[in-house]
Amino acid sequence: MQGLFRVCAASLGPIAAIMAVGATAVIAQQQPRLDVPYVPTPQEVVDRMLQLGKVRTGEYHIDLGSGDGRIAVTSASKHGARSLGVDLNPVRIEEARANAKKANVSDRAIFELKNLFETDIGKADVVTMYLLPSVNLELRPKVLRDMWPGTRIVSHAFDMGDWTPDHRESVIGRTVYLWIVPARVEGRWAIEGSHQFTVTLQQKYQEISGTAEIGGKSVPLRDASLSGAEIGFAIDIDGMPYRFQGIVSGDRIEGRRNEWRAARAK
Ligand SMILES: C[S@@+](CC[C@H](N)C(=O)[O-])C[C@H]1O[C@@H](n2cnc3c(N)ncnc32)[C@H](O)[C@@H]1O
Repeated sequence: MQGLFRVCAASLGPIAAIMAVGATAVIAQQQPRLDVPYVPTPQEVVDRMLQLGKVRTGEYHIDLGSGDGRIAVTSASKHGARSLGVDLNPVRIEEARANAKKANVSDRAIFELKNLFETDIGKADVVTMYLLPSVNLELRPKVLRDMWPGTRIVSHAFDMGDWTPDHRESVIGRTVYLWIVPARVEGRWAIEGSHQFTVTLQQKYQEISGTAEIGGKSVPLRDASLSGAEIGFAIDIDGMPYRFQGIVSGDRIEGRRNEWRAARAK
């Protein structure tokens, strides 16, 4: 973390000097305006990020701010992914394409000169990034809006504010974070099956809680959980504990063994 901040501060030196000699307008045209300076992720950390993101053969992986392409090239060569790296610096894009060629994965690790904020992440199974706290925070609404429940985000060094990671660990002194994009479940649901009742859910990212209205009584949900599209909770019915586990799909939930289902209620 500190490494990146140090580079940020250090990189101001030459830029300030250029401005001082009055070449600002020309340089501004030539230099892409980067939101994050280039600092590569060590290979051990790259390997662990892709393991944590559970990148599988044929999955679509995007590295936002791809630098020399090492994360996208590794996901294509070691995990069999189709990967896209985007970077605003044309020098980095050239390096990344050369590295993909060297690793024999030019067909599966593609690099585009593109702003990460304008990149379509809606079809990605996994997104990786090594950016900055402010950039992660700016990306957060886009991640939650555009990515499908169950897709994974892995970040080197920086968190996503009050979105608690599903996993966090240290690799050779670097912190790596994993989030699983949660389905949107907040609101009222009508449950049908062997028992009929309504459930009202509150949600903060992947943390959920709520109450069931059953037999004229309000019963708190116990052990409520949400991981991607997988939801679970327990309630007592007539003094007996029941666990409900299902898969959320838009405005419907299907019980795991089809023994119950739910639809959004008004
Ligand atoms: C810290 S480096 C990470 C490089 C690579 N992902 C890695 O971990 O080795 C951040 C990269 O983001 C790129 N970058 C900065 N702002 C960007 C933007 N708005 N859109 C796309 N790339 C950007 C920089 O050029 C740099 O290569």
